[in-house]
Amino acid sequence: MSAEVINGRELSTALKEEMKVEVEKLKEFGLTPHLTVVLVGDNPASKSYVKGKEKAAAETGISSSLIELPASTTESALLQLIQELNDDTTVHGILVQLPLPDQIREEKVIEAIHPDKDVDGFHPINIGKMMTGEDTFLPCTPYGIITMLKSKNIKIEGKHAVVIGRSNIVGKPVGQLLLNENATVTYCHSRTKNLQELAANADILIAAIGKAHAITAEYIKDGAVVIDVGINRLENGSLTGDVDFESAKEKASYITPVPRGVGPMTITMLLKNTIKAAKGLSK
Ligand code: GUN
Repeated sequence: MSAEVINGRELSTALKEEMKVEVEKLKEFGLTPHLTVVLVGDNPASKSYVKGKEKAAAETGISSSLIELPASTTESALLQLIQELNDDTTVHGILVQLPLPDQIREEKVIEAIHPDKDVDGFHPINIGKMMTGEDTFLPCTPYGIITMLKSKNIKIEGKHAVVIGRSNIVGKPVGQLLLNENATVTYCHSRTKNLQELAANADILIAAIGKAHAITAEYIKDGAVVIDVGINRLENGSLTGDVDFESAKEKASYITPVPRGVGPMTITMLLKNTIKAAKGLSK
């Protein structure tokens, strides 16, 4: 069996076309969704992610601004800036790119962003709403994963989903969203004893480990749906996932590639959240 590849770039393009039409309509009513991105320091990966976000926003007619601060920025200066952005009625979405320099506590920054402008879906209030299944901003990568599954009409209800990785940004929330869709969810992580055995039991396998090609065919059940969240840079500079794509695609029924998989969907869902914020639908 050779798996069907779920192309995140193509799905993103289609979703961005839909959003473009919606944004044009909002503009006719005098509402231009606006995203403000804050970048502290000069981490090259963060800079490149932020550029991607600005480009995608422009493609859909969403306006965006980038505030770049030096790596020496204090926590109180950043919190002050966030307060100003919270009070600015022309700013609908606020995204502070992570990671932040060591002197700044990430949780303080996330908690300072007004929940109605939290387009990352990282604020504890929004995480709580996600857990109870209330309408809110969903974290972009997990939201993108669920959207990819639904785009192929992949049944989630009653399926055994195994999530490898327990980060606050991906692993924990994607497991919760799969549970909300009535999957049975198992979380695996660095201390899990029988990872291969558990993974090979999954109908839906989510790999968010951060280790190139860690998931080989032996970890995959025949016909499983394999979602690769990894973005690992090889020595030759190319990007690759957590899944060994070539061997995995012979066992899976569906698989996401890297690049052109989950990555583009993350940015696309950020735009969706920004439109939602502009429409004031998170309340
Ligand atoms: N750093 C890596 N991924 C993300 C993300 O989704 N949002 C923010 N704010 N920072 C990140």
